[in-house]
Amino acid sequence: AADVNLEFNVDNSVVAPDGFNRAGVIVNRVFPGTLIQASKNDVLHIKTNNNLTDPDMRRSLSIHWHGLFQMRTASEDGPAFVTQCPIAPQHSYTYDIPLNGQAGTFWYHSHLSSQYVDGLKGPLVIYDPEDPHLSLYDVDDENTVITLSEWYHLPSVGIEEKYLNVNPFHEPIPDSGLINGVGRFKGGPQVPWARINVEHGKRYRFRIINISAYALFTFSIDQHKLTVIEADGISHEPLPVDGFEILVAQRYSVVLEANQPVGNYWISGPMTMQHSSDNKNLDTQNVFAVLHYVGAPDADPPSKPKGGVKLLDESNLVPLVNPEAPGGSGPADRVLDLNFHRDANTGELEASANFIGFCWTINDIKYESPDLPTLLNIMVNNFTNENQFTPSEHTFVLKRDEIVEVHIHGSANGHKHPFHLHGHVFSVVQAMTGAPNFANPPQRDVVGVGGSTVIIRFKADNPGPWFLHCHIDWHLVAGLAVVFAEDPEGQRSGPKSEIIKQEWLDLCPIYQALP
Ligand code: C2O
Repeated sequence: AADVNLEFNVDNSVVAPDGFNRAGVIVNRVFPGTLIQASKNDVLHIKTNNNLTDPDMRRSLSIHWHGLFQMRTASEDGPAFVTQCPIAPQHSYTYDIPLNGQAGTFWYHSHLSSQYVDGLKGPLVIYDPEDPHLSLYDVDDENTVITLSEWYHLPSVGIEEKYLNVNPFHEPIPDSGLINGVGRFKGGPQVPWARINVEHGKRYRFRIINISAYALFTFSIDQHKLTVIEADGISHEPLPVDGFEILVAQRYSVVLEANQPVGNYWISGPMTMQHSSDNKNLDTQNVFAVLHYVGAPDADPPSKPKGGVKLLDESNLVPLVNPEAPGGSGPADRVLDLNFHRDANTGELEASANFIGFCWTINDIKYESPDLPTLLNIMVNNFTNENQFTPSEHTFVLKRDEIVEVHIHGSANGHKHPFHLHGHVFSVVQAMTGAPNFANPPQRDVVGVGGSTVIIRFKADNPGPWFLHCHIDWHLVAGLAVVFAEDPEGQRSGPKSEIIKQEWLDLCPIYQALP
């Protein structure tokens, strides 16, 4: 275990990942943000300096460390107004995060409105010297981390405004798709595709992360098998596939054997999203990078990828350690039914005098951020019962250690909604496909919900307020979220380390004093 001291300088800067210049929000002057590398059991200290100045974008910020449990450190989780007030411009905050044995592939992103769309996001990898899959690969380094993302030519504040207020309430359509921060838009320059170099005969661990706000990617590498060994920070039994769908915020590690003739091969990530024809600039299909064998000519692959690949069926993933769902197939202590839908009466609403914009609801409630973070209300104002939170905070109080089963009832409107729970992994006891499975269901922190009911299980063993939300960022800002407040009393009487830092307490008064 080591202390890893990092400094994040968050700046506005012109970026051009697809050849189009626009102002963005970046970390340590690279896009996407700088890669964090750590080892299991390290403690991260990330001094985050907010240098944002651009009046056309949000100038406060907060950062979430996606997939890290934050066991007894809920104050460091990052979602604005759930666990902290945003960091005001020209101020700093140091996130102190013990990794507590977690290892795998993660990422970080702004968790203030739709700010991460502008670039405030990046990969986070925790290496495990005792990784159970260690014998399966030879190389696992910073060159084998692959990020997938869509990209917009306009700042997020404006597109979010338009999405929430203007018919036809279509999700904003990006201008391009990026692999490792590089892409092309129709009519734009032929920006060279990102390149991943491999040596013939070696076995590589590739870590693929969808850092998008909307797009689902279908990932494959031409003429190469991929063996999935990790989903969302959890090791799973090796499962060979040709490719996989990866929803927003999901991660997979795969083993790739560089066993094909020395040459160049397409890494492809075509994108799927509703209403994509709304933007004529967007080419959803030609989103590429190049797998380059050392010794091959410095060129793009000669032909298009073959396609027709056999994709991963998520329900076939089997966790390697502790495979059983919490509580097995016995009854859960608490069952929650969540029905979500988008506001249907768009025409009517817009015409009416009290039109407040479009929204998404869960059990007919649109989640709205409170003025004071949920965690502050728990720790300082002694909130204990559900009825102390305002209804629009849509907060469920969970008892210590209860087995919680959440039934997320999808609506058949074409989207696969990536639902993410903070503070935990969950068992996917009923995925979008396959039969219910309590014996050895996949474990992850983002699950897709389509037109059917998806069921997840977890144990409420981590005191703190944890967001459960759709990770399509446009849906989150439109209200598609709830909060689970686990054991508020236990949290208040918890160990010393849980007592809130002065620096954390100062965030709210500083933020509230902003002009
Ligand atoms: Cu990737 Cu609420 O988080």
